[in-house]
Amino acid sequence: MNFSIKNICCIGAGYVGGPSMSVIALNNPSIKVNVVDLNIKRIDEWNDNNLDKLPIYEPGLKEIIKLCRNKNLFFKTSVEESIAEADMIFICVNTPTKIKGIGAGQASDLIWVEASARQIAKHARSNVIVIEKSTIPVKTALTIKTILNCSDTESNLNEKRFYVLSNPEFLSEGTAINDLKNPDRILIGGDDEKSIEALEDIYKTWVPKKKIIRTNLWSSELSKLTANAFLAQRVSSINSISALCESTGANVDEVAKAIGSDSRINPKFLKTGPGFGGSCFKKDILNLVYLCNFYGLQEVALYWQNVLDLNYWQTKRISKIIVNKLFGTITEKKIGILGFSFKADTNDTRESPSITICQDLIEEGAILKIYDPKVSIYQIESDLKLKEKGNNSSKTNSWEFHQNLYDTAHESDAIIVLTEWEEFSNIDWVRISSLMRKPSWVFDTRRIIDRDKAMESGLKTWIIGQG
Ligand code: NAD
Ligand code: UGA
Repeated sequence: MNFSIKNICCIGAGYVGGPSMSVIALNNPSIKVNVVDLNIKRIDEWNDNNLDKLPIYEPGLKEIIKLCRNKNLFFKTSVEESIAEADMIFICVNTPTKIKGIGAGQASDLIWVEASARQIAKHARSNVIVIEKSTIPVKTALTIKTILNCSDTESNLNEKRFYVLSNPEFLSEGTAINDLKNPDRILIGGDDEKSIEALEDIYKTWVPKKKIIRTNLWSSELSKLTANAFLAQRVSSINSISALCESTGANVDEVAKAIGSDSRINPKFLKTGPGFGGSCFKKDILNLVYLCNFYGLQEVALYWQNVLDLNYWQTKRISKIIVNKLFGTITEKKIGILGFSFKADTNDTRESPSITICQDLIEEGAILKIYDPKVSIYQIESDLKLKEKGNNSSKTNSWEFHQNLYDTAHESDAIIVLTEWEEFSNIDWVRISSLMRKPSWVFDTRRIIDRDKAMESGLKTWIIGQG
């Protein structure tokens, strides 16, 4: 079957669907791209005339939206209609960890993937290419194929023909647009030559052909989980060494540089921090652990579980260090928190180590003064989920939100840098120090501050990975 792709539908207008379809639309002006979502608020935000109100913050995104929106890129809630128009459909929905039932706490919840497949089965026309872009357990394509090809007497679904491909997404938040424009590789898993070629043609408008890797469906699905597991493993490895550096007087950046100069190790992804966050590393490794156990590979499951355990330990040890340095108690002490997103250049807080650390400090009785350049007060409130025992009102006296980093220092005993936002590398420490209660501390979990300047201003400093 030869395909001529004129109309793409992407189900899911989230952190992946929005940016990835924007870049596809930018490079394929003759193709109409509909990005659809059930979430009306999210779609309204994608359509907001004020481009600073897009639902996600990514450098370079609003410029593309400005060029393509309502020309060949559309954000809609009409899921069924857009599916019915499409020659190619991307499934870009969320695949979080299951919270109940079999596999709860480990397996991926495929309810939204399955719902998408059922909507496609019902509303799509025949000979449509269906592409898994969501990260899913290996063998999910089989489930999708089964749903798409099952018979339904009411709508004669069995008469339609679908071609299923796997095309995982490797973008990182904060650099999504650059990652999409200059990908290291495009991975396409499938068994139908013509549909693979049709997808390749979309990417070849801006990605060199040599960067397009073809595999079978299962290799493609498993490669995505494996890539995230390997990346997370590097972070856990360097974080484990950060603790040893603090105990021995070694400097973790010097160690990272020394080992990263070995071309077999390479310097990327060796930055120590408060533990990896983000919506995917934890859930994808949990999923890998679940799959390994499912296939009877307990030792393999344990190996990957350790990457997660080390990450949890790294986050928790930071809260303990802060309490210890502040004379063993932080009750009623004010503490400034710089950064709430899980990394710089994103407003995403999913699995951010800032959440755990803030919760720990509040539990110890501290009053937090939180600032993040892109995360809203509502998001922080929802993440911290503070409820007074016995009633449902939000606890209001344990943290405050500030619009300016200097306001977090007022009468504070400590400042904690939790996200590596650029502006935190240029702080006026003399000004900060003049606002704080003495003795005043700064804890840098990202190794981003100018330590000498902070110390010259009279601050006591603790830098992760440095004795
Ligand atoms: P997200 O939660 O931001 O977006 C998913 C969207 O899908 C939501 O807006 C939701 O309302 C919508 N949705 C769910 N079911 C739907 C349905 N039946 N019809 C219409 N809309 C529906 O998630 P995300 O961060 O974009 O991640 C999506 C997938 O991509 C996940 O599998 C994730 O693991 C993977 N991934 C994410 C990233 C990342 O950086 N966030 C990177 C690579 C891969
Ligand atoms: C990660 C992967 O890098 C992407 O390839 C993948 O597509 C994506 O997950 C996904 O599947 O969702 P992302 O989570 O957006 O991307 O961001 P990363 O840059 O990987 O950072 C993840 C976490 O690790 C952050 O908390 C970051 O601060 C931390 N990290 C990263 C470090 O602590 N040190 C490093 O050297 C790198």
